[in-house]
Amino acid sequence: MRNKKHKFDQRGSYQPITRIEPNSIISEQYRKLRTNIELSDFNKKIQIVGITSTNAMEGKTLTAINLAEVYAQSGKKTLLIDMDLRKPKIHRGFRLINKKGLSDIFTKNYDITDVVEHVEANLDVLPSGSKLPYPAEFLSSEQLKSFVNNLKDVYERIIIDTPPMTAVTDASIISSFCDGMLLVIASRETEVHITKDVIKDLENNGANIIGSVLTRVSKRDSRYMNYYYYQYR
Ligand SMILES: Nc1ncnc2c1ncn2[C@@H]1O[C@H](COP(=O)(O)OP(=O)(O)OP(=O)(O)O)[C@@H](O)[C@H]1O
Ligand SMILES: [Mg+2]
Repeated sequence: MRNKKHKFDQRGSYQPITRIEPNSIISEQYRKLRTNIELSDFNKKIQIVGITSTNAMEGKTLTAINLAEVYAQSGKKTLLIDMDLRKPKIHRGFRLINKKGLSDIFTKNYDITDVVEHVEANLDVLPSGSKLPYPAEFLSSEQLKSFVNNLKDVYERIIIDTPPMTAVTDASIISSFCDGMLLVIASRETEVHITKDVIKDLENNGANIIGSVLTRVSKRDSRYMNYYYYQYR
């Protein structure tokens, strides 16, 4: 996408362009991304998709929000979970307050129905919830793993936003309960050798990297295409 501020982020808003302008070229690219994921693995259904990147501010959260939106629009019952427990931003896409969410299910014994937000047809959002002192420990817990596993019976698609790979180990841990990971890469910004290390890290953790999304693509590079999707295998 263009190297200027996102059209729908001018006031710090993360509202999905795929909802506001479903017929735009950008929205079309998100739908293409959805189709490519659906076709990416014939052997295994990609039900849980994790989104990560090498560095901060590469467009993970906006990708997660818009991908969840286009899944919901296609009629799939979708849950968007904010597992970036350090810099949670998913709630901003839907004008929610991140007062309670995922972490509170475990620390305050809430039921998921107490904290999940039904934002539109087919789309539920689970904000990250109250801050935790040790996010990586929480993410590694067996309780969280089995919680996510149970969600598979309720939702057809689950999209998980995560922190950047070079900052913390969280995304690697999260990848262990995702069917596929998408790597967001900022065009002309993300360094190739660091990205290679990140891919190795994810693979060493047994992650199934299903592709990458190139953001901040300039008009010149893209010939008006805002998103690229590249499949590794
Ligand atoms: N495809 C894109 N093209 C251009 N700019 C983008 C794109 N996606 C996001 N941005 C801009 O990049 C900034 C960061 O976006 P976002 O919060 O989605 O990134 P992030 O990788 O989740 O960041 P963080 O690591 O802080 O969680 C925002 O200002 C957003 O408007
Ligand atoms: Mg983010």
